[in-house]
Amino acid sequence: MEKSVDSSRTTLTELMIPSYANFGGRVHGGILLSLMDKVAYACAAKHAGTYCVTVSVDGVNFRQPVEVGELVSLMGSVNYVGRTSLVVGIKVIAENIKTGVVKHTNTSYFTMVAKDENEQPTEVPRLRLENEEDARRFLEAMKRRELRTAYGEHFDNARTRMHLRENLHLLQNERCVLVNM
Ligand SMILES: CC(C)(COP(=O)(O)OP(=O)(O)OC[C@H]1O[C@@H](n2cnc3c(N)ncnc32)[C@H](O)[C@@H]1OP(=O)(O)O)[C@@H](O)C(=O)NCCC(=O)NCCS
Repeated sequence: MEKSVDSSRTTLTELMIPSYANFGGRVHGGILLSLMDKVAYACAAKHAGTYCVTVSVDGVNFRQPVEVGELVSLMGSVNYVGRTSLVVGIKVIAENIKTGVVKHTNTSYFTMVAKDENEQPTEVPRLRLENEEDARRFLEAMKRRELRTAYGEHFDNARTRMHLRENLHLLQNERCVLVNM
């Protein structure tokens, strides 16, 4: 079985209300993360046809602050599928209603896993790529997966080999203070 990218496409638009603000008067990053997670779930579940869980998130870099009163739109679609996992790409924009200015705040990638009734990972339909954009996103997700695996292994090796006492000198020019060491 296969499904198109379009069949998972989801847009969520929400007004940023005062209760979403932090002490600086701007919207909490956590509010946006929560909205992104909802869109990721909707896209993944539409494609998989089952319950899905969030496994990891890549590329959460908020480039610009979001203000109270702005209209935030989150546009998501399935970019990639593995056997049981799916990657949902989500673009977030914020629009100032008075000026009409639109900011691209971030694009992030949620890896979701489809689960069956017994909470076990279950196979998802293949993804039908109908144009170059669909194919580019699928290839980019493959590359990110490859880089994440390589990074994880590299970091685990480095951590295993790291000896605290031998590396304390690296802290000399850092903005920290060693106490009783
Ligand atoms: C993610 C989870 C399903 C993996 O279970 P598992 O028994 O290790 O299953 P598998 O090893 O078969 O992995 C299943 C899929 O997840 C992918 N996966 C597992 N860990 C991953 C990670 N850290 N990042 C990206 N993908 C990951 C695997 O590559 C595999 O994908 P594929 O089938 O497309 O190749 C399991 O750890 C889980 O349920 N975690 C909790 C998720 C959750 O509850 N999220 C909400 C938090 S409140």
